[in-house]
Amino acid sequence: MKDRSIAEYNLEGEDIEEKVKAIYGSVRFKPVRTVHEMAYRLRKDYKLIVDERIISLTIAAFLNNRPVLYEGPPGTGKTEIGYAILTLWSGHSAFILPCSENYDEYRVIGDFHPLMAMKYGFNEKSFMPRPLLAALILDAGVLIDEIRRSSEEFQNMLLDIIDKRRIIVPELKRVFTARGSGFQIIFTSNPEDIAQNELSDAFLRRVIRIKFTYPPPEREYEIVKLRLNSDINLLPSDIISKMIDVVNELRKKAIHKPGIADLVLWSTLSVNLAKAKGLKKATRKEVYEAGLHTLCKRVEDEVLVEEILNKYLGVT
Ligand SMILES: Nc1ncnc2c1ncn2[C@@H]1O[C@H](COP(=O)(O)OP(=O)(O)O)[C@@H](O)[C@H]1O
Ligand SMILES: [Mg+2]
Repeated sequence: MKDRSIAEYNLEGEDIEEKVKAIYGSVRFKPVRTVHEMAYRLRKDYKLIVDERIISLTIAAFLNNRPVLYEGPPGTGKTEIGYAILTLWSGHSAFILPCSENYDEYRVIGDFHPLMAMKYGFNEKSFMPRPLLAALILDAGVLIDEIRRSSEEFQNMLLDIIDKRRIIVPELKRVFTARGSGFQIIFTSNPEDIAQNELSDAFLRRVIRIKFTYPPPEREYEIVKLRLNSDINLLPSDIISKMIDVVNELRKKAIHKPGIADLVLWSTLSVNLAKAKGLKKATRKEVYEAGLHTLCKRVEDEVLVEEILNKYLGVT
């Protein structure tokens, strides 16, 4: 029986570039290369409010073809911001590689389709390009997520590609070289996550490290406003301020530290609870209830979460 996926995409060609376009698409838009425009587009197109320091350092690194490492606690926007900046910078949707221990070159550069290899042999016809090679060919960005979860061997392979801006596929006797400056890499990592590998000196020497932290309360308020859209009218502003107090105290005391992502989720759930009950606005009661179910991710934090919610949002 004919393998349908091959027939549909007409991937039996010998031209790897054509194959990459057929699989991964070739829609392009105008790249964004200035800090000001980047900040504006991140907010408008991706609903992300990003520190200018992060944007300017990232752009500066890219101008030098240097990879960037976003490091910081969960839910501080590393993955979403990295993806959005890479996409805007290159004018092509970025690729995301979620790392795991057994990630290897075959899964990121390419491998041979077994049926086609049987039919045609191990050559370009049966070779299936994977995201990293696709990004280099399409001059697009790559987000390598949670790099500490990968092996040192994998990290070293990446460094060689980044240094030389080319990928060698020995099985095909071919060298693919980056053509433009769209091919850039952002790594993310959370150094506090347990059971993760250390990053090697060779790795750290190459990257520009940018630390992510929790934003000041005013910025976090802005983010909630931006993310809730018109639903922001259902959440009184004094309550939002209290919610920000709650997450900030939990960040100091809890084992599971709520990120910006958790605050956004908490706000959304509060508003939806109010809607579900047919209320015009969320009250402390809905916010308290939603808080219990979004902020507490560990049994050990249960008492603490309740205590802090009571302190700021308790209904007496
Ligand atoms: N700067 C920001 N602007 C807007 N939303 C943000 C920002 N930072 C974090 N968020 C929230 O967090 C989510 C993204 O978090 P994510 O990128 O997964 O974090 P990380 O990769 O650091 O764990 C968004 O969907 C949004 O709810
Ligand atoms: Mg992430």
